[in-house]
Amino acid sequence: MTEPEPPDAGAFSDIDALPEPVFELLFGVLRGMAEHPEIQRVRRTAWDALQPMPGQRLLDAGAGAGEVARALAAAVGEQGEVVAMDSSARTLQAARALTPPELPIRFVQGSVTDLEFPAETFDGVRSERVLQHVPDPDRAVRELARVTRRGGRVCLVDTDWESAALDGVPANLATAVRERMLNVAPGHHNDMGRTLRRRLLRASLDDVTATPVTCLFLDPASAAVVLPVMDPAIPPEAGMIPDDLREQWFTAIAAAGERGEFLAVLTIWVAAGVRR
Ligand SMILES: C[S@@+](CC[C@H](N)C(=O)[O-])C[C@H]1O[C@@H](n2cnc3c(N)ncnc32)[C@H](O)[C@@H]1O
Repeated sequence: MTEPEPPDAGAFSDIDALPEPVFELLFGVLRGMAEHPEIQRVRRTAWDALQPMPGQRLLDAGAGAGEVARALAAAVGEQGEVVAMDSSARTLQAARALTPPELPIRFVQGSVTDLEFPAETFDGVRSERVLQHVPDPDRAVRELARVTRRGGRVCLVDTDWESAALDGVPANLATAVRERMLNVAPGHHNDMGRTLRRRLLRASLDDVTATPVTCLFLDPASAAVVLPVMDPAIPPEAGMIPDDLREQWFTAIAAAGERGEFLAVLTIWVAAGVRR
């Protein structure tokens, strides 16, 4: 008997299986997001929640292009170490190529649901916008807690895609596209952001905090960096926009931008707790 296929959790659940041009596109999306002021605001909140200090050993699980891992490596200094872990070999290779050799970062391939580290390896762990793609996120949170030392901090960042809202385009068009966006990958956890607090509590972390950071986008180009559904470069094959609405959608967004009436919001949550 063959194993049933897991439900599609979106392109980021298995980047290595994608054709090269799609990988390049997604890696470019990660790089673009890292430069967006609203994502930088989310990351400052997460930095404060993790409380990195010189000399610490830290884990970034699902590190992507590695921007945060590099910043953490600079903060922990040569007495410390950052492990940038990702399930994608290609992503790790591309992230390594962006990393100055003097930074104390080790790139490791692995899965956040089966971490190959002994218990209490790290002073702090973080995972940003990863759990939304993972079939068993509670198992991942238990793993992240397991590898954190007692008194160390676990910081999770994730999107609440259901919080996405828009003004300036016809409401029926926005509703139709939003509906499709939320259903394009059935195994994808659209509600992950707001569930992080509960997941940390269930993993027996102490002093759990949860901070919603609502990102505001006042022009279509700015929104497109974080909300792929606003990005005309995302190909029709991604299935995110109904084919018969695609032209109407991008025309309406551009017109809202030209009138100065475009507005989009998306809440990304930062949750943290202390390993007991
Ligand atoms: C949306 S990207 C976020 C990357 C980075 N944390 C950031 O915020 O820019 C999701 C990342 O998680 C990785 N990923 C997906 N499933 C994973 C798993 N089970 N274990 C570790 N990494 C995983 C992907 O390869 C990808 O690099």
